[in-house]
Amino acid sequence: METRHWVLIGVVALLLAAIISYLILKYACRKPVANIWNYLFCIFFFWTWIFNIYETPKKRRERLKKAGVKEGQVIVDLGCGPGRFVFLAARLLGPQGKVYALDIHPLHTAIVAARAAIGGHKNVSVMHADCCATQLADEAIDLIFINDAFHEFDKIGCLKEAARILKADGILAIYEHEMKEAKFLDIVEGAKLFTLMEKEKRLYKFRPLREG
Ligand SMILES: C[S@@+](CC[C@H](N)C(=O)[O-])C[C@H]1O[C@@H](n2cnc3c(N)ncnc32)[C@H](O)[C@@H]1O
Repeated sequence: METRHWVLIGVVALLLAAIISYLILKYACRKPVANIWNYLFCIFFFWTWIFNIYETPKKRRERLKKAGVKEGQVIVDLGCGPGRFVFLAARLLGPQGKVYALDIHPLHTAIVAARAAIGGHKNVSVMHADCCATQLADEAIDLIFINDAFHEFDKIGCLKEAARILKADGILAIYEHEMKEAKFLDIVEGAKLFTLMEKEKRLYKFRPLREG
């Protein structure tokens, strides 16, 4: 058999393994999983490498700082993917701080967990969950960071959960470039749970609105 046939067999085998693992997780284990296209796409990790070239660690660190990430805070990265921001945040937060890295995609959380173990990042806590049901305590979080993921979420469900877990003086920082700005702001402000505090290009910072 020629090399190209082996390559084809390899790709088909990977695809089948991905689809089978998706079905097992979703229906047999009843775990939260991302939609099938996102799941398949992420299996091949192409986007991770492409984004890493386009968005250098320096650019990502700057975005975290602009979002308001500071030493000693407890933050959550909702829809953290394979952790492009998680470990940069962990360094900015220092040993007194903590970052919860949450994603619905089991492969992503597995990658972040492996990276945290290999790198010895004690202030990274990985959560495999839906952003609408984080299991975090009420008002436990100083800053919620959502990078390039809000458009994939159940938006109102996520905003309600964000309002629950965020401290009264906390920050909801969303970097969103997929949605049109007017529609995005309409949804976030329309939910009447947050008010826009600052915006720089596609990075939006909101404060929670508390009753009374
Ligand atoms: C485009 S990726 C962005 C990943 C990461 N924030 C970054 O910038 O590299 C969107 C992420 O959101 C996650 N996601 C989608 N729906 C989710 C949900 N309901 N709860 C938690 N994570 C979710 C996906 O699994 C995926 O990892």
